[in-house]
Amino acid sequence: MRRVVGVPAIAAVVVTAVLYVASAALVVVGELTTQLQNGLTATHAASATSAFEPVLYAPNGVFAFGFLRVGDASLDLAVVHLPSSFPLWRATPARLGDWSRPATLTFDTTLVLTDEDSGVLWQTLNTVGDVVVLLNSSNLILRRYDDDSNVPPWQSFEHPSDTLVVDQNFTGSSPPLISNNRRFAFRLGKTFMALHMEFYGGKTTPMYWHHTALEAHPENATEPPVYGRLDVRGFFGLYLAGGEQKVDTLSFDTFLQNLTGEVFRRMTMDDDGNLRAYYWTDGAKDWISDYRAIAGDDRCELPTSCGAYGLCVPGGAQCQCLDNATSVTPPTCHAGEETTDLCSGDGTQQVEFDVVRRTRVSVAYKDELSPETNKTEAECEAACAGNCSCWGAVYNGASGYCYLIDFPVETMVYEADDRKVGYFKVRKLPSSKRSRMSPGVAATTAVLSLVLVVLVAAGAWFGYRLWERRWRGRAGTMEQELVPGRYKDLKSMGSSNDSFK
Ligand SMILES: *[C@@H]1O[C@H](CO)[C@@H](O)[C@H](O)[C@H]1NC(C)=O
Ligand SMILES: *[C@@H]1O[C@H](CO)[C@@H](O)[C@H](O)[C@H]1NC(C)=O
Ligand SMILES: *[C@@H]1O[C@H](CO)[C@@H](O)[C@H](O)[C@H]1NC(C)=O
Ligand SMILES: *[C@@H]1O[C@H](CO)[C@@H](O)[C@H](O)[C@H]1NC(C)=O
Ligand SMILES: *[C@@H]1O[C@H](CO)[C@@H](O)[C@H](O)[C@H]1NC(C)=O
Ligand SMILES: *[C@@H]1O[C@H](CO)[C@@H](O)[C@H](O)[C@H]1NC(C)=O
Ligand SMILES: *[C@@H]1O[C@H](CO)[C@@H](O)[C@H](O)[C@H]1NC(C)=O
Repeated sequence: MRRVVGVPAIAAVVVTAVLYVASAALVVVGELTTQLQNGLTATHAASATSAFEPVLYAPNGVFAFGFLRVGDASLDLAVVHLPSSFPLWRATPARLGDWSRPATLTFDTTLVLTDEDSGVLWQTLNTVGDVVVLLNSSNLILRRYDDDSNVPPWQSFEHPSDTLVVDQNFTGSSPPLISNNRRFAFRLGKTFMALHMEFYGGKTTPMYWHHTALEAHPENATEPPVYGRLDVRGFFGLYLAGGEQKVDTLSFDTFLQNLTGEVFRRMTMDDDGNLRAYYWTDGAKDWISDYRAIAGDDRCELPTSCGAYGLCVPGGAQCQCLDNATSVTPPTCHAGEETTDLCSGDGTQQVEFDVVRRTRVSVAYKDELSPETNKTEAECEAACAGNCSCWGAVYNGASGYCYLIDFPVETMVYEADDRKVGYFKVRKLPSSKRSRMSPGVAATTAVLSLVLVVLVAAGAWFGYRLWERRWRGRAGTMEQELVPGRYKDLKSMGSSNDSFK
């Protein structure tokens, strides 16, 4: 029986969880909580030692929902596959909680995660539910007592994070799968599935891999869009929306082995930019991958294998930097992640940049970039140089194809062909002494500047008062002296500002 897996650990956390949870709002089956009812409040103990604090279990005991520690010290809500401790779903709020502080999960028609200091971190919006349950499929759902429609008011299956599981429908209107490091996304188009890099907070999303459904007809405008679903038999199927008509099958290595019923499968947008399927067998020690979208054995085929401004040399998959400067080494050929393009002013001027040129370079995903054709090398370079949304240009002298890169430069691939040349812009870092100031120096400078401003203002005020007094004095004199023949004095005095000094 599956529940046997990891029982001591589960039993221990159940005791802990029950201590923290208002017991009236729970339905406990056997030793596991399998329902959260309205009025529930569960509390995360500050700096809990276990990385996962379950609040709710699936009836099969394989999955649990609760507080998850992310990284060193952040807090999120997650549905975890207990045998592997892998989070299949995460709430991923814009702002994560802090593991070292208390946090509260409440259920009162909606699920809400609150942090003592920052307030509401995450909630299920516009939903009304009577109970929260975690299904055997790992789908976390809010359910109404009086609803026969079978469509829950809210389900985690409609809000994937980086992973899909068996029977989870993935559609064009689903949020994309976003890798844990938030740099890659898996999306569905009308008749195709695609992988994208995410730049500028998701505003620029160049595609680096796609697969079109074989039997779907994009030219047929009336044909419904496709949706995707991971199948326990070992494939990812693409189906026409609104039905079960399959238009494509991406079969996994284990497709013919008939592992049905013995394995749990997931498909994950991994942090290296590849989309992979994995399976877990009872008693296993690790996930086994049986599918990857980018199938080559060479990691140079992944879009950021050597980091920004890196050059991947196939074969040994060595990394170099596009700029051969000895002071930098891959994968840190470039400082920091680009958060904006090179445009400035009204969007046509460019910020300052340096240029790196390199021969024998190409792009791994050039099939996804639409080249400008019949160009000379100079024309190709000029097209990029003058355009502030362009970061680089890769030119093939043999074909005349010019690939403009309108997103920050990532890893290029080495190709032993002198006719393949690249032109790359590197943002000039603000290199003035000002930016090198230590915080202490900067603070001192600020204080001194302020003192100076106050002194100047005070000086001006005293000067003004002095001038005013003198002017009044002289004016008094003047009245007395306003006699013909004395105009010269008056004129010289009126035009002179000497009294300020
Ligand atoms: C969930 O799994 C448990 C244990 O495997 C089983 O007893 C139960 O019937 C399952 N529930 C559903 C709805 O399939
Ligand atoms: C997935 O889509 C199919 C076909 O549209 C539907 O029958 C099924 O209920 C959906 N599954 C979920 C979990 O919504
Ligand atoms: C367009 O789609 C409809 C409905 O799916 C189908 O009957 C028809 O044959 C399709 N036409 C073409 C040209 O694919
Ligand atoms: C696959 O295995 C299941 C039992 O695990 C069995 O019932 C089924 O007939 C098998 N199917 C094939 C095609 O071998
Ligand atoms: C960079 O260094 C490599 C190996 O040291 C060399 O083969 C290559 O020609 C150099 N490229 C440039 C542009 O200097
Ligand atoms: C390519 O450009 C040259 C000159 O710029 C022109 O004469 C030629 O017709 C062009 N070829 C194609 C296929 O467009
Ligand atoms: C600059 O490049 C972008 C993207 O490649 C393109 O959409 C735009 O039209 C170009 N602007 C000019 C002025 O050529």
